[in-house]
Amino acid sequence: MTKIWKITEADLTNADNQEALLEQLEEIKIAFTYGEIIGIPTETVYGLAADARNSEAINKIFSAKGRPGDNPLIIHIHDISQLEDFTAVLDERVLSLMEAFWPGPISFILPLTGDYLSSTAVAELDSVAVRMPSHPVGRKILQHADMPLAAPSANISGKPSPTNAQHVIDDLEDRVYGVVDSESAIYGIESTVLDCTQFPYRIARPGAVTKEQLEAVLESAVDTVSSQTDKPISPGMKYKHYAPSQPLIVIEGGINNNTKLPVERTQKVGIIAPETSREFIGEDIQFISLCRDRNSYREAARNLYSALRIMDNSDVDIIFIHGFDKVPESEGLMNRIYKATGNEVIQGG
Ligand code: TXA
Ligand code: MG
Repeated sequence: MTKIWKITEADLTNADNQEALLEQLEEIKIAFTYGEIIGIPTETVYGLAADARNSEAINKIFSAKGRPGDNPLIIHIHDISQLEDFTAVLDERVLSLMEAFWPGPISFILPLTGDYLSSTAVAELDSVAVRMPSHPVGRKILQHADMPLAAPSANISGKPSPTNAQHVIDDLEDRVYGVVDSESAIYGIESTVLDCTQFPYRIARPGAVTKEQLEAVLESAVDTVSSQTDKPISPGMKYKHYAPSQPLIVIEGGINNNTKLPVERTQKVGIIAPETSREFIGEDIQFISLCRDRNSYREAARNLYSALRIMDNSDVDIIFIHGFDKVPESEGLMNRIYKATGNEVIQGG
């Protein structure tokens, strides 16, 4: 039986609840100490966590997810001083970024030192991705456990990442020791990954923290790794991701009265788009409202994976999704949408 710990943000400060809370946190810590794997909330997506020093525990993560062993995990911490155990002294530029964006939705790839971390967790690389999450419950778990936790997204490899505890249970129940059931992830897409092993730094995966925000802090340019031309620096980027089982197609420019969908008469159609598109969509189409309007990028990112999961579990044969304008704030969102579609695009008309 998978254990479920219900811990909400309000529980952390509820004076009447402190004893029960401490008991839950202690139980979770002991489970990690014994090499168990547990689904935990973060502000980006839910993670599947284990003690990053324990290779046996890390192997459980890879097999529960069906994840290829050459795809390294992100190491989660609650305090910068923990980095002393496994990275060299931090460059001041990295430190300034950590101060600006941590705790929060960005991971930094740093040179790895020593053999403190399980080499399985970092896929035998000589670098390591680290993140300090801000989700209050995720953060509390990290603080109480006081150990580095390796945590990839808590989905089966190839499925959309989980943005709430139910998604984790749907994918991984009986494959994990337990799941912490807390608030949904507020960002909804995985962290920005910034490669800081060479200068200028390079964005290996776009996310909520944008290139422009990073450049403003660094006062210098940040590169982006193009998945088409560059050799992937994040091994994970080479795998197809987040895909529902039906064909998924982006409608560039969005839907209007002139939009002609390339579908057969017999196909059941699903559309994921902003609420403002609803008026152009027929009764026989399954519509999921992703966000308020075409500029609501944050809300769209927060709801994207949930929408993909609902469509995936429905009886529609083909899915279309609104393509958002290309602006800095939509980069992470559109990156995930394109990855889910495998770059299949039509023009909205
Ligand atoms: O928001 C997130 O980052 C979530 C939550 C749970 O923190 N975690 C997450 O982990 O998305 P995962 O394992 O699904 O994605 C980690 C990405 C992969 O693309 C992996 O290849 C890359 O980070 N990565 C990790 N360590 C790396 C390294 N040393 N060098 C290059 N890429 C690395
Ligand atoms: Mg993932």
